[in-house]
Amino acid sequence: MNLANSTFIDLFAGIGGFHQALSHFGAKCVFASEIDKHASQTYHDNYGIVPVGDITKIDEKDIPAHDILCAGFPCQAFSISGKQKGFDDVRGTLFFDIVRILQYHSPKLILLENVKNLAKHDGGNTLKVILTHLKELGYAVHHQVLNASHFGVPQNRERIYIVGFHHSIKKEHFNFPIGDNNPVCVFDILEKNPTIAPIQRDDVVFKHTYESIFDNEGRKVLPNKPIQIGIVGKGGQGERIYHTDGHAITLSAHGGGIGSKTGLYYINDQIRKLTPRECARLQGFPENFKINPRDAQAYKQFGNSVAIPVLKAILQQI
Ligand SMILES: C[S@@+](CC[C@H](N)C(=O)[O-])C[C@H]1O[C@@H](n2cnc3c(N)ncnc32)[C@H](O)[C@@H]1O
Repeated sequence: MNLANSTFIDLFAGIGGFHQALSHFGAKCVFASEIDKHASQTYHDNYGIVPVGDITKIDEKDIPAHDILCAGFPCQAFSISGKQKGFDDVRGTLFFDIVRILQYHSPKLILLENVKNLAKHDGGNTLKVILTHLKELGYAVHHQVLNASHFGVPQNRERIYIVGFHHSIKKEHFNFPIGDNNPVCVFDILEKNPTIAPIQRDDVVFKHTYESIFDNEGRKVLPNKPIQIGIVGKGGQGERIYHTDGHAITLSAHGGGIGSKTGLYYINDQIRKLTPRECARLQGFPENFKINPRDAQAYKQFGNSVAIPVLKAILQQI
């Protein structure tokens, strides 16, 4: 499929992870929808497009024709930390807004992303319902859980990716990329002069020592996964401390603790969270990406976003 002359719509657009990946291959965005005004602002600042709001209020006939539909539809209903209500939860039913848009427009390609737990939710039934609907609409569907860690960014982020090809383009076979698993680490994405205060706590406990490992030629051997070395407080969510030779934990849009949304890292003999720019790098956003000026919003937006290098690798396969 030639992405360069394609058009796409960006549903549940957030700050445009899909937009980044698709425009990298020359595809053009013709419509975006995002209900959160701060995310919409960031989207507009970066792409010059004002997303329409609540997709449930948009008539599919008012959406322009397009070749590709992408959606990182809200995951809370399916995530382990949510209450797992699935389709009973109104956020779960947002999938059916995707269905009615597909029914009307029949784009050639569908790209969806969701939390890994979607595959196991309700004993696998939720995913089955999703795939069945897409098949009934004439799509050959493929799904795979992929970890951003294997695609050149030091973030442990496992997500399910669903790709659907409309029967009109006759593409039955598709192999998901496996990633190159190149060694990277948190140290690689750190800002040189971060404007973020280290935490000041007297209940820090370093539980495990970690010595950097070097090969015969003096190069650091990186384990390509998070390395927890300590805790603060009780060591709950946002209270775990990681080494910068390893990967970051999954960025999240919610969650508390003093290291909320990013986790804590031991950097230059101090302990701190990651900065919004460092979060942008962990999701593969380019250096010229305009970050929301409100830190709380920026952290939430990067926690919600999709890992762009994974999408690019999937699109490369397509
Ligand atoms: C998991 S995030 C997707 C993030 C996006 N893929 C990105 O790269 O930034 C889901 C997004 O859906 C938005 N959303 C939730 N309900 C919506 C609705 N009814 N209409 C439009 N957007 C909605 C949320 O505000 C959130 O930004």
